Amino acid sequence: MKKVFLFLKNDSALPMIQVYLNGYKGIQVFVQNDATSFSNDLSFIGFPDALFIEEAFITNDLQQSLDQISQKICVTNEEKEIDGYRCFYKKNWEKACEDFFSSLGENLETEEYSDVPFHLLKKIDSSICDIYLQISKNGLPHRVKLFHAGENIEQPTVEKYLDKGVRNASVKSSDKAQFLNYISNQMYTEMILTPTDNIVGKALDTALILLKDIGFNSTSTQLIEGVVEAMNAKLSSAKGKDLLAIKDLLNSKTSRYFKKAHLVSMLSGKIIQNMDWGTHTHQNLLTFVSIMADISLEQEEMLFLTDKKSLEESSLNEVDKSHVWTHARDAFHMIQAYKDRPLEADLLILEHHGNKNGVGFSEQIGTSLNKLTIIYRICEDFAIELIKLNEMNVDVKIMDIFQHLYIKHDKKVLHLVIEDLKKCFIN
Ligand SMILES: [Fe+2]
Repeated sequence: MKKVFLFLKNDSALPMIQVYLNGYKGIQVFVQNDATSFSNDLSFIGFPDALFIEEAFITNDLQQSLDQISQKICVTNEEKEIDGYRCFYKKNWEKACEDFFSSLGENLETEEYSDVPFHLLKKIDSSICDIYLQISKNGLPHRVKLFHAGENIEQPTVEKYLDKGVRNASVKSSDKAQFLNYISNQMYTEMILTPTDNIVGKALDTALILLKDIGFNSTSTQLIEGVVEAMNAKLSSAKGKDLLAIKDLLNSKTSRYFKKAHLVSMLSGKIIQNMDWGTHTHQNLLTFVSIMADISLEQEEMLFLTDKKSLEESSLNEVDKSHVWTHARDAFHMIQAYKDRPLEADLLILEHHGNKNGVGFSEQIGTSLNKLTIIYRICEDFAIELIKLNEMNVDVKIMDIFQHLYIKHDKKVLHLVIEDLKKCFIN
């Protein structure tokens, strides 16, 4: 098995190279985005058979290690030569991969199929390529064609397999990048043309699936950016009709993740609009934080857990509980790969439960936190209560939710933020 390190920036070239190399048997790919993870992988995994490195990452500190790697391919931002490296202009990533294979001097067999998350099929009406299902035949893995290219994706069929616990579908390896791009483009266009809650919600859910499968790249981030834009546009257009917009959202057929993120973004956006210091940048930042802060939480139940007591009393197992406990820090680490994130978004995500290290839940929000974090915290607690009551089909009494907030955040300065939120409902 040949080991290949991809020490590259997380932009358009990396996912393409990764998908390309993953399509071959006999190759194991490791990705690093910074010098620390590169050095860690060198110590734990050992020196790779080949390295793809970003020009900007070649530094004197790493020189000794780099000297010990014989196959080095440098991905550059312009056509150039560097001693000891075979250089390729970023846009020619395919050539760089072909060159890498010829330099290995071996005939590597192509991995014919690649997995894609099965629940992606819930988000699309048709596919650009054939989609397969892996089954076991006489004890051996075997693939059957589930949907033909261009054919309608029958949702009852998709639901049937999801209910059976099927987690992955397969596409031909050579089709995977195009397949994911097609989904992202289709959804983005649909969202721009008709930005209803149902469609924007579906786009956010899809973006989260893509993020977990292929990381941050132009395919997944175009959807994230589209969702942020759509949410901000709705906030501006809903002026004076906020209650109606909230009601529509609560009654929409969207996920709990989307409802919470969108409510937090709407409510915090309203507070910011009423502040003399508030700008569009603050609003944009909080919308981004509201959709990314909980990206590492896998189950809907986890989204309502915001204090130690309810976490301990939840039905989650110990591993899941510890995921919830550290989810702010985990999201902070994940978001580092998103180079175009709004300024300070990562720090707000890190402290979004009131602790500056992103671990656990603070019992009482510290007033030394960023004022945007305080607004986020209060709006999220409000949103959670509102969604809970709506899901239980209980008559919502807004003042009861405010009463709950006054008790939970019992400090004068926090009460002032609650008052600001109240103004969004009661003039
Ligand atoms: Fe959270």
